[in-house]
Amino acid sequence: MKKILVATEKPFAKAAIDQIAPVVKEAGYELALLEKYTDKAQLLDAVKDAHALIVRSDKVTREVVEAASELKIVVRAGAGYDNLDLEACTEKGIVAMNTPGQNSNAVAELVLGMMVFMARNGYNGTAGTELRGKKIGIHAYGNVGHYVAEIAKGFGMEIYAFDPFVAKEKIEAAGIKPLDTVEELYSTCDYVSLHIPANDKTKQSINYDLLNKMPKGGALVNTARKEVIHEEELLKLMADRPDFTYISDIAPDCKADFEANFEGRFFFTPKKMGAQTAEANINAGVAAAKQIIGFFESGDETFRVNK
Ligand code: 3PG
Repeated sequence: MKKILVATEKPFAKAAIDQIAPVVKEAGYELALLEKYTDKAQLLDAVKDAHALIVRSDKVTREVVEAASELKIVVRAGAGYDNLDLEACTEKGIVAMNTPGQNSNAVAELVLGMMVFMARNGYNGTAGTELRGKKIGIHAYGNVGHYVAEIAKGFGMEIYAFDPFVAKEKIEAAGIKPLDTVEELYSTCDYVSLHIPANDKTKQSINYDLLNKMPKGGALVNTARKEVIHEEELLKLMADRPDFTYISDIAPDCKADFEANFEGRFFFTPKKMGAQTAEANINAGVAAAKQIIGFFESGDETFRVNK
């Protein structure tokens, strides 16, 4: 019997496992769970006899891939797959997939939730500001960007987007103003919401010059990856621009500098939690299980990312 291992340092909601388990069982596979592991050795041991692996942000390194001698497929239950060593997977003939769109609404709701929290001064009772009429820039109009725009519309915000990989017509059709350059997005918008992946081209690309284009009172919202921020330059900008706010679902490595110097001008969730809803866990977890079954049963490679 083929074994599907769910290895999640940050576990799915119980409701998600309750839905993944029957999907796996009814298809005739065995489900194994490794949750809240604290040591890489536990993962290396658990993958030994797994034929398929479902992970979240868990690091599937070359070492993990090499320890998993039976592994045929790994699915990242989520969007960003920068945690998978794709080269190692490809070399070992392992198919790697993600589950695009399945957790996007959860992330988008957190974006607007954090914006309201900061606009109202952390709910401390002092007079804050409103989102209505403010300009929001969607930096990369993918699945999360789409939902952020939908929700921002409800708040009465003016919505702009920059995404060189998406046709302008598609952005316009959603009632959003497409912009030609990333510089234009930052110089136009009061809020910029980041939805770019972390890769060689984007790492540290959000730098001083770009952020300094934002109008007075500007705020950057990061629910993407901390690696896309040039942290040293962000700290310099925070020091030079007392009007600027940084809101992030992924605390930067330089969190201590923020705490020491910029009180009231930043917000970081205690632990990355954009996709932490029962709905997102169910959607992404069940999709991952079904993609694995589809791959084994009929060779379906939709959503493969290491083509
Ligand atoms: C993603 O890429 O799907 C999100 O960043 C969510 O990641 P998580 O599953 O580790 O919460």
